[in-house]
Amino acid sequence: MLVKNQGASQAAIAMEDQFGAHNYHPLPVVLHRGEGVYVWDVEGKKYYDFLSAYSAVNQGHCHPRIINKLKEQAETLTLTSRAFYNDRLGVYEKYVTQYFGFDKVLPMNTGAEAVETAIKICRKYAYEKKGIPEHDAKIIVCENNFHGRTTTIISFSNDETARKNFGPYTPGFIKIPYDDLSALEEMLKNEKNIAGFLVEPIQGEAGVYVPGDGYLKGASELCAEYDVLFIADEVQTGIARTGKLLAVHHEEVQPDVLILGKALSGGAYPVSAVLADNHIMEVIRPGEHGSTFGGNPIASAIAMEALEVVKDEKLAENSEKLGQIFRSEMQKIVDESELLVLVRGKGLLNAIVINDSEDSSTAWDICMKLKENGLLAKPTHGNIIRFAPPLVMTEEQLLECTEIIARTIRTFSK
Ligand SMILES: Cc1ncc(COP(=O)(O)O)c(C=O)c1O
Repeated sequence: MLVKNQGASQAAIAMEDQFGAHNYHPLPVVLHRGEGVYVWDVEGKKYYDFLSAYSAVNQGHCHPRIINKLKEQAETLTLTSRAFYNDRLGVYEKYVTQYFGFDKVLPMNTGAEAVETAIKICRKYAYEKKGIPEHDAKIIVCENNFHGRTTTIISFSNDETARKNFGPYTPGFIKIPYDDLSALEEMLKNEKNIAGFLVEPIQGEAGVYVPGDGYLKGASELCAEYDVLFIADEVQTGIARTGKLLAVHHEEVQPDVLILGKALSGGAYPVSAVLADNHIMEVIRPGEHGSTFGGNPIASAIAMEALEVVKDEKLAENSEKLGQIFRSEMQKIVDESELLVLVRGKGLLNAIVINDSEDSSTAWDICMKLKENGLLAKPTHGNIIRFAPPLVMTEEQLLECTEIIARTIRTFSK
C-alpha cells in the first residue's frame, strides 16, 4: 500500500481548496484506498467508513466481483450512446425489472437525474392518461425532503442553503408535512390536478426520519384511491440499506414509480434508474427523454453484478440484523449520557441526535473525534449524526465500532 509522507493530507486539501469550487464542507480526511468496510487515508491510517458515500457503497468498497465486471466490460465496450443498441443493456433491463417486479426501466446516471425523470414521466402520464390540462399537473412532495440538486428539485426543497439565489423556481409542486396521512388525504381531496406523490420512505438527508408504521402503506392506498402516482425515491434507502431490498417492502408496498441510484452500482460508477409498469412507462417515446451515458454497457454490467452481490451475500438480512444490534448498543449510550437525545433508524441507516442546539458545533466535533478514533461519520443537519456503514460488515466489526462510538461520546459527556 502506498504510504505517503505526513503532510500529504494538507497538500491534497489545499489543492482542492484552491482549484475546486467550494460546494462541500468535507471532514478533513483525504482517502486513498478502500476495501470492504474500511478506507485508508493518504498517511496510511485505517478507518471504518460509516457514511458509505451516502449509502452508495452498500456492497463495500471495491467489491472484487463488481470491480472485475467493471474491468471486464471496460476492456470490451464502454459507451455506444442510445443511438445504437448494445448487447448489455437489454440483459440488464430484463434483470433489473424482474429483480424489482416492474415491466420497464428507464436507465439514467445520478440520483437527481432519476428524480427528474420520474417527475417528467409523472407529468406526462397526467396529461396523456388522466386528462389533466397541460401545464396544470401538480406533484405533492414532503417538507424537509431531499431529492437532489437540480433547479427543479431544489424548487421544492425547504433547505434555504440549497435554494437561495437559484430561482426562478419550477412551479407545480405542493408541500405537505412528512409522515402525515391526514395532510395527504386533505390535499388529495381538495386540490385539483394532482398527478403524483413523491416521497422518501425514510428521510435520509433530513436526519434519518423514520415515518410511523403504516405511513407508506396508507400513502400508497390513498394514492390508489385518488388515482395519483405513488413515487418512491429509494435512492438512499434502497438496495438493502434499511434491512429490506427496498424500504417500502417493510410495509409490503409496490410503488407505481420507483427511483433508484447510488448502491445500484455498489458505488463503482454512477448508475440510476426509474422503474414503472407499461401503462406508465409507455408515455415516454423516442426523443422525449434520454442521456448519453444512461444505460451504457459498463453501467449495465456493473449494476447487474451489484444486485447479484446483494442477493448472494444476503445484505438485506445482514443490514436488518446488525441494525438491531447497532440501535440497542446506541440506546445504552443514550441511557447513560446526557449528550444524546435518541437513536433512530432502520437496518443500517441510523442516526443519533445530539443534545445541543441546531447551530452548535458539537456533532461536527464528535465526528472529528470519531475520525481520530478510526471511524468516519458526518453530521446531516446540525446536531444529527448519520451512521450508515457498508452492509458487508460483520457483527464483530460492528461491535468494535459501537465501542469506538461509545468511547468517543464519553469523552464529550459532562
Ligand atoms: C433520497 C435521495 N434522492 C436523490 C438524491 C440525489 O442523488 P445524486 O446525488 O446521485 O444526484 C439523494 C442523494 O443523497 C437522495 O438521498
